[in-house]
Parts: sequence; structure tokens; C-alpha cells
Amino acid sequence: MRVVDLFAGCGGLSLGFQNAGHDIVAAFEQWDTAINCYKENFHHPIIQFDLSDTDNAIERIKAYTPDMIIGGPPCQDFSQAGKRIEHDRAELTECYAKIIAGITPRCFVMENVDRTRKSQAYAKARSIFKEAGYGLTEIVLDASLCGTPQKRKRFICFGIKDKEDNFAFDAFTNRLSKKSMTLRDYFGDTLGFEYYYRHPRNYNRRAVFSIDEPAPTMRGVNRPVPKGYPGHKNDACPVNENLHVLSTSERALIQTFPADYKWIGSKTEVEQMIGNAVPVNLAQFIGNTVNEVMEEGNI
Ligand SMILES: C[S@@+](CC[C@H](N)C(=O)[O-])C[C@H]1O[C@@H](n2cnc3c(N)ncnc32)[C@H](O)[C@@H]1O
Repeated sequence: MRVVDLFAGCGGLSLGFQNAGHDIVAAFEQWDTAINCYKENFHHPIIQFDLSDTDNAIERIKAYTPDMIIGGPPCQDFSQAGKRIEHDRAELTECYAKIIAGITPRCFVMENVDRTRKSQAYAKARSIFKEAGYGLTEIVLDASLCGTPQKRKRFICFGIKDKEDNFAFDAFTNRLSKKSMTLRDYFGDTLGFEYYYRHPRNYNRRAVFSIDEPAPTMRGVNRPVPKGYPGHKNDACPVNENLHVLSTSERALIQTFPADYKWIGSKTEVEQMIGNAVPVNLAQFIGNTVNEVMEEGNI
């Protein structure tokens, strides 16, 4: 199947689908730093394009004759704690749906944060998918049950043209692990630390984690332990000056990027791309499920 990845970022979703055997023929993205990073890691083209210009996007993407379109429109407006006002970025979810309806590939996969599901933008996108004739399987996946040592919940909408809704629900759930993957499960004893600090959004949340649990969601920022960190009753151990803080490359590995993935950009930009990405193993899990469903349905 010919696959096009939209809002491709540094390539987490692309790499997972490629690992699952899909032929990515092109990717589209607006941010030049992410484009430069993506180019270093793939052979197919990545096109710099503002996908909010849906009419022109449809023409450009159509030229690659995709059987499947995949993509994770930006999600900050859904994921910002406290402020759930939907703005321009949320509208890109609707743009994604308009692009699908304008091209009508055999199938598509859309990835986003779990609360997308209840957003107005997704309600609009959903009705565009339905009007275009897609059956939808909508599911929230916990990455730690999909081969990734990280509690990261992501909403997936998998659409196939002229199918009944929920066609892939069992295929997804049957593949889930019974137990969350911990950092020790994934890395063995190679990490060299037992506990680490992950800066919380606010001090109502804990910040110290053990490698015997899945990591919390890797976000787009990475900070050292601040001087005034007050501690939290659920921290896995008390904070001390020797407490490990995850490095950029450890965060990329927890996002299940391979160790030889090439990271291009400033430290801040790379941290952002890592936090934005779909964990490669979660993407591969989704890509494998798509294969299974397509094979079973002779599609
Ligand atoms: C959530 S990230 C995608 C991460 C990617 N799927 C991955 O796995 O690495 C969303 C991406 O959309 C890009 N983006 C934002 N607005 C855009 C636009 N108008 N057109 C194209 N890309 C855009 C951002 O630069 C960002 O890289």
C-alpha cells in the first residue's frame, strides 16, 4: 500500500508504519527543523506545506496516489492543561478530515491526544469522515500496552471506505499486552539509574519515577530539578542532588526511537520533536493492526 504521512514531524509515525511493512511514499510538514530531521532518516520525500490550505494540499497529495493516509494533526490546543479552548491548531484536525474527504484513500489513520475525542473539532472531523463514506474504529490506546515503556494515551481513528463502524476494535484490543511495559522491561539493567526526575506540569503531580514502572508521557520540554522543588507524597524516592534527570537521548529512546536515529536541531527543538512524536513502537503496533485487518478483509 502506498502511504502518505501528514503533519509528519520528525517521523515517529512514519518509522513505526515503515517498520510494520508499509511503503511510505511521501510526507508533508510545515516546520523546517522537523523537515530537516525527517530528511536525515528517510529516503522518500518530505514536502514543506501548510496543510491548512486544504484545496492545494489535496492536489499536491493526490499526485502520490496514496492507498492510505496517516497523520497526527497538532494537538496542543487539546492537551493544554486547564485551558481547553480550541483554536487554530484544533482546526487542523478538521483540515485533516477535509483532505481525507477530498482524496478518499482506501483507508486512513488519525492519531491525537485522548481528549480529542470529546472536542468540537473532532466532532466536525468525524462527520466529514462519515459523509465521505468511511467506517470508523475509534479507540484510545495506552502506549505501555503496545510495546512502549511509557504511559501515553493516544486516540486513534482508523477509517476504511465502505466498512461498518468498529470493524477493527477487536483486532486492536486482542493485540494489547496484559501488563504495562516498564523501563526495566524495555532496557533491562542498562540504564545505570533506578529513579529519575521528570518535571511535572504543576506541583500537584509527582515528579520522581522508578524504572520499575512505565515512564510518564514524554512532553515537549525537559527541565532539571528546580531548586525549590517541594517534593510530592507519591514520588518514588526523595529528591537528592544525585537524582537522575532524563537526557534528550534517553527521552528519544523511551519514545522507542532507535539509538541511531539522527536528531537535527537545537536542544529545545529536538526536545519538542521528541515530545510531539508518536512512539515508534506504538505506531508499529497500529501499522501491524492495519495489516491484519486489511488482510482479513481481503482489502
Ligand atoms: C503532533 S506533531 C506530529 C508528530 C509526528 N506524527 C511524529 O510521530 O513524529 C504535529 C506536527 O504538525 C506540524 N504542523 C503544524 N501546523 C502545520 C500546518 N499548518 N501544516 C503542516 N504541518 C503543520 C507541526 O510542525 C508538528 O511537527
